[in-house]
Amino acid sequence: MSRSWLALGLSLVFLPWLGAQQGAVCHERVPHIANSTNGEVSWSLREVCCKGYEGTPGGCRPRCNPRCLHAQCTAPQQCTCDLGYETPSEQEFSNAGCQPKCHACRNGDCISPGRCRCWPGYVKSRKSLSCQPAPHLLQPAEQCELRCRSTRWQKYFSWSHLLSGRTPNTVPTCRQNQTEPCLQLDRCVCSSLSQRLICQDTAEKQPQQYVCSDPMDQTVENHPGLQTEGS
Ligand SMILES: *[C@@H]1O[C@H](CO)[C@@H](O)[C@H](O)[C@H]1NC(C)=O
Ligand SMILES: *[C@@H]1O[C@H](CO)[C@@H](O)[C@H](O)[C@H]1NC(C)=O
Repeated sequence: MSRSWLALGLSLVFLPWLGAQQGAVCHERVPHIANSTNGEVSWSLREVCCKGYEGTPGGCRPRCNPRCLHAQCTAPQQCTCDLGYETPSEQEFSNAGCQPKCHACRNGDCISPGRCRCWPGYVKSRKSLSCQPAPHLLQPAEQCELRCRSTRWQKYFSWSHLLSGRTPNTVPTCRQNQTEPCLQLDRCVCSSLSQRLICQDTAEKQPQQYVCSDPMDQTVENHPGLQTEGS
């Protein structure tokens, strides 16, 4: 192999020049053939975006994948929530983005900053910003079980689109000798409007909602008319 071919081969390999990293902009050593007769190589520096950054018309910007939701990508793989939004406490949402913040939204979903929508079966309380059970709309947990083919339940998230394709784990109801975690039905009520189980785990501040993983009547869960908003 001639020396010029060797130089050409070298020129295809861009060696990152470590140590010259300046924020988002890095430098790469690029070889050039200085003399085609003897294959002598000279090097020049080229500005490139550092690892974790991407080129935009304005310069190198940090890259977040998946994209930040209601947040700015402030460093590679790091989202900083917009005003009025916060990182969800649910572990299941890690990396998924930010959700709106409400001061008090017990038994409800915070659907935008400061705006709490009561779960089906709950109504806005006059005294607090939270939602109170509407007793005639809540039934014993067994009523929900009757509508469920399996004994497994899925945690329901109003922000389930944040899960980006991941299927939430299912939890069985507690039977004799059932290993944890399982749903203690005596800590749950059934929402007659949504057929969701609403269960209060002593460890959790906010009750959790569960949907049947194999409902008898598939239409119940998808009926938007059953979602009532507290006022
Ligand atoms: C290129 O290399 C050849 C052989 O070593 C040498 O004779 C010539 O002077 C060099 N040319 C330049 C421009 O350096
Ligand atoms: C539950 O566990 C106990 C003790 O290990 C055992 O005697 C009993 O048969 C088990 N019951 C069922 C339904 O598996």
